[in-house]
Amino acid sequence: MKKKLFIILSIIFVISGYAFSDNATQQLLEDNATCSLTNNSTLILYYSKTGKSKIVAEELNSLMPGSKLVEVKSDASIPAAIFWYKFPFTKAKIEPLNINFDDYEKIFLCTPIYMQGISPAIKAVIKDIPLKDKKVSVFATCGGFYGSLMHWFVKRSIRSKGAEVQGLYVVKVGGKTNEEIEEQTATHLKTVLKIE
Ligand SMILES: Cc1cc2nc3c(=O)[nH]c(=O)nc-3n(C[C@H](O)[C@H](O)[C@H](O)COP(=O)(O)O)c2cc1C
Repeated sequence: MKKKLFIILSIIFVISGYAFSDNATQQLLEDNATCSLTNNSTLILYYSKTGKSKIVAEELNSLMPGSKLVEVKSDASIPAAIFWYKFPFTKAKIEPLNINFDDYEKIFLCTPIYMQGISPAIKAVIKDIPLKDKKVSVFATCGGFYGSLMHWFVKRSIRSKGAEVQGLYVVKVGGKTNEEIEEQTATHLKTVLKIE
């Protein structure tokens, strides 16, 4: 019974993602995003299981001198990530972050995509941390496909915390070298966030 439910929900996730996808751009952006290159009030939080989102986060950190880079740790398993933690009422446990969020105006969230949604760890971050009046950018890494339906969910959850979604960007890592991932990150940070 559980297996059948799992298969049905998985199919719904995949079909809905394709139905709402925006393959024309693959850039899931908000308009008018601006950012400063040197910014002590920028916090980068990342979760990464196999290292790709970490590459993105580290590249953002090096492109924004003064920004603070913090890894989010969670024990959410992959099976739980693609099923249980997809439900809005579930939340993964993350290790305490020990950050004074008042010090930060801009927050970058770096996360893998699992079944066309963000990782349970970053979902928990969005739920847990104070985001009111913050400018939030999401950099999601994926093999190649990220559904716009999930894009909508992410924006909605960030805005429901009183934050502004500054940018939502997908870095495709499938078949890419680390250097190419860094280049994608740098290019998009510069163009998307209008950094000169
Ligand atoms: C269980 C699972 C589900 C995934 N689902 C998707 C997906 O829906 N779309 C996609 O493009 N990539 C998907 N991927 C690929 C990951 O998003 C990609 O490898 C990501 O960059 C991994 O990030 P990390 O190295 O920071 O952990 C999936 C990977 C796993 C393990």
